[in-house]
Amino acid sequence: MTRRDGPSRKADASTGAPARQAPRRAPARDFELEAGSFAHYEDPAYYASSYASRIEDVAYYVALAQRSPGPVLEYGVGNGRIAIPIARHGRNVVGVDHSAPMLADLRARVAREPAEVAARVSAVRGDMRRVRLKRRFPLVLATFNTALHLYVRDDVERFLARVREHLAPGGRFVVDLSMPTIADLARMAGRAYSVPRFRHPTTGLVVKNREYFDYDPLRQVLFVSMEFVPVSDPAAAWITPLAHRQFFPREWEALLHYNGFDVDHVDGDFEGGLLTKDSDVMVWHAKHATRRPKGRP
Ligand SMILES: C[S@@+](CC[C@H](N)C(=O)[O-])C[C@H]1O[C@@H](n2cnc3c(N)ncnc32)[C@H](O)[C@@H]1O
Repeated sequence: MTRRDGPSRKADASTGAPARQAPRRAPARDFELEAGSFAHYEDPAYYASSYASRIEDVAYYVALAQRSPGPVLEYGVGNGRIAIPIARHGRNVVGVDHSAPMLADLRARVAREPAEVAARVSAVRGDMRRVRLKRRFPLVLATFNTALHLYVRDDVERFLARVREHLAPGGRFVVDLSMPTIADLARMAGRAYSVPRFRHPTTGLVVKNREYFDYDPLRQVLFVSMEFVPVSDPAAAWITPLAHRQFFPREWEALLHYNGFDVDHVDGDFEGGLLTKDSDVMVWHAKHATRRPKGRP
């Protein structure tokens, strides 16, 4: 018996009495993955400056929300990079996120909007695998790689169950995931990939930024370590970890299929282009499955 098997639940052979049930253990916490799903979002000012030029996905989701008949649920709403523009275009958005700093920044940004826009955004702090809002939406989004923080099958299944509960009949679930590329996953662990130095928006210091990549092919998780070295004080360097599960296209399709969704189509960019082998992103559009899951062939 390996340690993972746990104690036997069979009857005690000498007395015939049922063996005592072992207390149910909480699943072991994986601190490396936990850090990889929180740390990058601890500093919303840095997050906002890093992705300020990323605008195509914002326009894509705003257009989707405008075509949708009602309010939007956005998982991984963050500091509202996408939710606030959706609200500016007249749609109500409910966001779910587990990061307190990102949600605090969302509140601050929303407070700077005109009152009618601010009134359209609300957010719930919680885990996307667990939060139950007890209402349904015609459009449910999981934007900008939020789903890459679902590291194991159980995470994905819990999350997709929450999406099913919140998706109105006939509604659309849209999730974008970066496409795993062999070249990216094959980057040498321990080798520094430098990005130009810049003035860090939070500390105000000029920093050298190096990134390290370490892909674990068993867990299919890409660990990224972002190192920031202040030029004036290298000893004050710090590292921010980020962990991204890598979902291959056929794998994600199967996960949707076996968790109650039909794929409507997949875009390969945020201009509505087809998914090709050169696409950097997969934008999956799914709906409630209209068929019952098949049994064994
Ligand atoms: C890449 S950011 C996307 C933020 C925003 N949608 C955007 O496009 O800028 C991913 C977000 O997912 C959130 N997140 C990660 N894991 C989560 C979980 N298990 N439950 C809720 N939110 C989670 C993070 O806190 C972060 O704000």
